[in-house]
Amino acid sequence: MKAHEIVADRRQVPLEFDQVAHRYDFLTALNPGYRKHLRWSAERMGLPSHARILDLCCGTGLSTRALIETYPDAIVEGIDGSHAMIAHARRKSFPTRVSFRVGDAMNLRGAGAEGPWDGILMAYGIRNMPDIDECLAQILTCLAPGGVVCFHEYSVADSLWTRSLWNAVALSVIVPFGRATSPGSDIYRYLRQSVVRFDGVKAFESRLRRHGFTGVRTETMDGWQRGIVHSFIARRPA
Ligand SMILES: C[S@@+](CC[C@H](N)C(=O)[O-])C[C@H]1O[C@@H](n2cnc3c(N)ncnc32)[C@H](O)[C@@H]1O
Repeated sequence: MKAHEIVADRRQVPLEFDQVAHRYDFLTALNPGYRKHLRWSAERMGLPSHARILDLCCGTGLSTRALIETYPDAIVEGIDGSHAMIAHARRKSFPTRVSFRVGDAMNLRGAGAEGPWDGILMAYGIRNMPDIDECLAQILTCLAPGGVVCFHEYSVADSLWTRSLWNAVALSVIVPFGRATSPGSDIYRYLRQSVVRFDGVKAFESRLRRHGFTGVRTETMDGWQRGIVHSFIARRPA
């Protein structure tokens, strides 16, 4: 599918990830800070080490790895809509307290992921949802009272500088590399467009508060992703 078609029908996103799953770990390894930043988001959740955690849109398990490194005794379940991404995650070595399953982040009950969870990490997921508000409503319901959610996500709408930097990096590095390694997919052009269209930091924080989340706060990353990738942290009221 072309990037604009994926933007128009985001239910297709997991199918696109099926096509690039075999290259996903290689490409993200070229992104300085990718794994470190996922760990920062996991740490910023401030959970107890034995927490029950949902890794929503877990992909090949890179965000799951960040969670288990941060919370070594946690019970972690990874859910993703892409069969191929989940197949890659399952091939990796994880403790038996970690499990993976295919499921739709827009239907957490149907995915058997209704919780209650002490924490939910959604790394590079919320931007791809066909209905962000519906997804947020479900996440709030699936958190235990006092539970913490972290959206690890790009957000560049608030600043012309970060938007320009993002477009420059995406057009000069991410899209050409993505095309060279996965010629059958337009997912990397979709990535650029979806980031530009996603909420700014203030708008996303307001959206979270409107849904009833409390303690909403945002922290960013370092390097070229400062002001571009963020941890949006919020709680379900106790
Ligand atoms: C950019 S990857 C992020 C993977 C992982 N969290 C990480 O940080 O490396 C986004 C993932 O979201 C998944 N995804 C997109 N829409 C989804 C949906 N509606 N339900 C479940 N997974 C979805 C894709 O299949 C893909 O694996």
